[in-house]
Amino acid sequence: MIYLKTPEEIQKMREAADLVSRTMGEVARWIQPGVTTRKLDTIAREFIHDNGGKPACLGYEGFPGTLCIEVNETVVHGFPSAYALREGDIVGIDTVVELNGYNGDMAYTYAVGDIDPKTFELCKTTYESLYVGIDACRPGKRVGDIANAVQTFCERRGYSVVREMCGHGIGRSMHESPEVPNYGRRGTGAVLRNGMCICIEPMINLGSRNIVIEQDGWTCRTRDRKPSAHYEHTLALYDDETHILTTFDYIHQAYPNRFESKPEMN
Ligand code: MF3
Ligand code: CO
Repeated sequence: MIYLKTPEEIQKMREAADLVSRTMGEVARWIQPGVTTRKLDTIAREFIHDNGGKPACLGYEGFPGTLCIEVNETVVHGFPSAYALREGDIVGIDTVVELNGYNGDMAYTYAVGDIDPKTFELCKTTYESLYVGIDACRPGKRVGDIANAVQTFCERRGYSVVREMCGHGIGRSMHESPEVPNYGRRGTGAVLRNGMCICIEPMINLGSRNIVIEQDGWTCRTRDRKPSAHYEHTLALYDDETHILTTFDYIHQAYPNRFESKPEMN
């Protein structure tokens, strides 16, 4: 069941999205070789608490962190740990903040210092594919139109799309209907309507699309151990338009945008 939001609820979604965006901006300031992912997690948790929010991932079905940490071959849902970032790593940070009963969700993959050019191109394409998906997301279109746009864009450039993990509706719960896959056929799936709030989150691999879940039951990595990138925004559909509620602006103040791509479309 898809929950359509009232304008009042969308205002609350906007506030939650703003807090998760500012949280990511705080974390961005710490991205450098030597920082442990646990330190990043602590920064985020304290910032969220200090601003009246709740770290929604922490304790969610037993997840042990505020942030999901995605180093190199990790696709999603890695744990914060004593691992210290190294020059040449990429690290995706994905988190959800609950504020006044509503959730904001976003993800961003960083390059730690200089990285391999092929890995940089993977990140750039994944970043761009998020906006390609957003462009395809309009009231009256369908979920499959988003999915197909992301898939076509990435596969044409030689990358592969993770299929087991999807974007999703969001609201009072971090995961609501509909699922928003990053592959599929145009003209299929749920119709996009005013009042819907959804997250688009391409998870794109340099090598094959196959994934493995580690023994911890959470950490999702590429089977071939080649890198994977991940970006995510929370969106609201109203007034026959799509509005991006989260923003990378705070991240890019601390960590300049290396992709020189589309400006934010807020
Ligand atoms: N953005 C992630 C997702 O949609 C958030 C997961 S929180 C976790 O899957 F607790 F499940 F890790
Ligand atoms: Co999400």
